[in-house]
Amino acid sequence: MPSVRRVALVTGANRGLGLAISTLLHESGHRVVLAARDGADAREAARGLGGSATWAALDVTDEDSVKAAAGRVGPVDILVNNAGVLLDTGLPTSAVPPALVEQTLAVNLLGSWRVTQVFLPGMVRAGWGRVVMVSSGTGSFANGLFPKTPAYAVSKTALNALTVLLATETAGSGVLVNAVNPGLVRTRMRPDAERLPEEAAADVVWAATLADGSPTGVFFRHRRPADW
Ligand SMILES: NC(=O)c1ccc[n+]([C@@H]2O[C@H](COP(=O)([O-])OP(=O)(O)OC[C@H]3O[C@@H](n4cnc5c(N)ncnc54)[C@H](OP(=O)(O)O)[C@@H]3O)[C@@H](O)[C@H]2O)c1
Repeated sequence: MPSVRRVALVTGANRGLGLAISTLLHESGHRVVLAARDGADAREAARGLGGSATWAALDVTDEDSVKAAAGRVGPVDILVNNAGVLLDTGLPTSAVPPALVEQTLAVNLLGSWRVTQVFLPGMVRAGWGRVVMVSSGTGSFANGLFPKTPAYAVSKTALNALTVLLATETAGSGVLVNAVNPGLVRTRMRPDAERLPEEAAADVVWAATLADGSPTGVFFRHRRPADW
């Protein structure tokens, strides 16, 4: 059991990395709210964990859904913005349909932004909070950006920018806002990857439970600061 038991909400918690993050937080003794866009999926995932795990129907692209979930869940201490889509594999930047770019940004950038806007004020009021953006090396300028998934890469670059802006705004408040590059992880999104979701989840949970006074506004890879 952790010294302080936190309330943690994870988006996209019904599968893949989100489910692994939720499982680890749950096993660490925190009270986890598994949020998924399909309420039945969220309920099933929470039942799978048992104990104190609860669930919420939460589509990150839908303002009403996010507000309704927040109303039911109440304040959270830890928010993991994990929900994400990869829709443009193999499409060139010069020809990716703008509609796909919009859909990608709607989930990966605006979704994380919207959910954070709803839960962050409560963390600041409480003087304690952890927000983790599940980002990607594809959006890293230092990695050269990844040209084979242009909308996805831009969405994660923008998510990194959002991380820095939110960290700047909340500096000194007791809330830490960081981004994690989990590497390539074997999920529906990347079934070909070697890294298991449990391994990547451990890095995300580490960032979600950083001790007071730890860095904010950092891009972590393997629990070390990485260049943006
Ligand atoms: N796998 C990798 O190699 C890798 C590498 C770097 C970063 N990431 C990031 O890791 C995160 C998790 O991805 P994953 O690999 O676990 O992929 P995944 O298995 O495809 O899971 C994606 C999750 O996001 C959810 N989601 C999509 N749109 C949503 C919406 N509008 N509202 C709420 N939830 C939504 C999905 O819900 P449904 O089940 O309903 O579709 C699913 O739970 C993403 O942010 C991804 O970009 C993954």
